[in-house]
Amino acid sequence: MSQLVLRARAPSNIALIKYMGKKDSSRNLPENGSISLTLDALCSLAEVSVAAGRGTVEWRPELPAPPAGVGALSFQVPHLSEEGKAKVLRQVERVRSAAHELLPRWGVPLRPGLVDAASSERWVFRTANSFPQASGIASSASSFAAVTLATAGACAAERESFQRAWRAEPPFRAALARVSREGSGSSCRSLDGPWVQWEGEDVSVLPSRLPRLAHFVLLVSSQAKKVSSSEAHQRVKGSPLWQGRVERVERRLAQLRQAIGEGELAEVARVAWSEAWEMHSLFHTAAEPFSYWEPGTMLALQALAPWVRETEPPIVTLDAGPNIHVIVEATRTPLWEPRLRALGFELLRDGQGTGGGLL
Ligand code: PMV
Repeated sequence: MSQLVLRARAPSNIALIKYMGKKDSSRNLPENGSISLTLDALCSLAEVSVAAGRGTVEWRPELPAPPAGVGALSFQVPHLSEEGKAKVLRQVERVRSAAHELLPRWGVPLRPGLVDAASSERWVFRTANSFPQASGIASSASSFAAVTLATAGACAAERESFQRAWRAEPPFRAALARVSREGSGSSCRSLDGPWVQWEGEDVSVLPSRLPRLAHFVLLVSSQAKKVSSSEAHQRVKGSPLWQGRVERVERRLAQLRQAIGEGELAEVARVAWSEAWEMHSLFHTAAEPFSYWEPGTMLALQALAPWVRETEPPIVTLDAGPNIHVIVEATRTPLWEPRLRALGFELLRDGQGTGGGLL
């Protein structure tokens, strides 16, 4: 067979209502629903080369070819532990086996030869991120979404029919999001956008009347985190604040959906602020307490708190990391960017996006 090379790109996402605590960890089913904003330039690339071989799949620590049209971002190859590599390879297997049923269901013919890909092909993956790994910017979300897309795309007979279904069929995107979720929970929100809700098995785009948004990260630290999110999902259940968490999130989900639908940015900011503090309070009060905060996190939160009480508040949230995400109306960037820069941290700048795609 001649060699097939396919590239996919998927952005990161930032949750305003957090996925924290799993109901079924074997399938990454969450205890509660979550809502996130899909980002744009903070993203991952995945490249897969398929050639004749002996049924192997490998991930190589090499840069994928730089894509055209992604701008002047500097991509970095992630450092993957043996466990991290095994997780990626398991995801490739999961997507390949799901593709046999899923692609034809959406009118996408399977590539001849796929049937015995597991014995007669050699698949080589290369991945890269446009941002520092494990620093509270969800690299596993964007990289698993990109690997899922590249793998599914490589199972299709032609790129065009895959692209048609991908662009025109939201349920096709939602079906691949489910497969992505099984590899990394929050990755299921990176395939579509800009506002994505994930509840149980279902992933959907929320109707929004919000203006176009700009997204910033106050980069307090880009050190790898000491407690993985898998561990955090378990340890939060040992906090006395876990009791009632699912009910509180249900209320917040309804408030946030309404605020997004009605374009009420100040209400979105209010809900996001409470939710971010609640998730970090769960960490800080777990039976085995832990924290992602660095001294700079607290300084930045203290500086941001008065602005959150203003009539035009920024949306402020944190992921499982020390860095602070700030989201504002894009047209107000000339006001907010200098204010944020004056806090003295490195600032990453991004915007809202519409999810992953083949390159
Ligand atoms: O997808 P995971 O298992 O890495 O969990 C991500 C959890 C948070 O990023 C902290 C919150 C979220 O909803 O993205």
